[in-house]
Amino acid sequence: MIEQTLVLLKPDAVQRGLMGEIIKRFEQVGMKIVGIKMVWMDKEFSKKHYAAHIQKPFYKGLEEFMTAGPVVALAIEGLHAVETVRKMVGDTEPKKALPGTIRGDYAHHSYAYTDKRGIAIKNLIHASGNAEDAKQELALWFGKKELQTYKTVHEMHVF
Ligand code: PPS
Repeated sequence: MIEQTLVLLKPDAVQRGLMGEIIKRFEQVGMKIVGIKMVWMDKEFSKKHYAAHIQKPFYKGLEEFMTAGPVVALAIEGLHAVETVRKMVGDTEPKKALPGTIRGDYAHHSYAYTDKRGIAIKNLIHASGNAEDAKQELALWFGKKELQTYKTVHEMHVF
């Protein structure tokens, strides 16, 4: 039940100075950061990360957005980490994301607005959708030596 998942703090989160706020939330819930790095993605890497979405109409805007600045990649470990992190991140569309979620608390962009302007939805964060995606995405973003093994105090109380 202990899983690892991939989180990306997108260029809007980095540029808005929200890295610390967002990472704090994962730490507070008891998740363990086992990998962390700042990366400026190029278009080729974006196509690898978003391979499932390349054919979609929004992909061009998404690629432009994701390559416009550095992102922070996090490998996060914990009990039910994939589901827990997705719950904390909230709905893909910030307008719909509930207060208390990361997107609901720090963003409000809507598809109605972005579709009209032909721009990407600025939703701060990516989190792997399921265990299979998490495995593939972690392998794409982190080498085995970049993932650390250590104990946190949460493991005394949660695991
Ligand atoms: S999800 O989170 O994968 O279930 O969401 P999905 O709706 O399938 O979207 C897949 C990723 O594409 C991003 N997306 C968009 N980006 C820019 N503009 C528009 N209109 C748009 N619609 C969807 C969405 O944020 C997902 O990327 P990540 O990185 O997972 O957030």
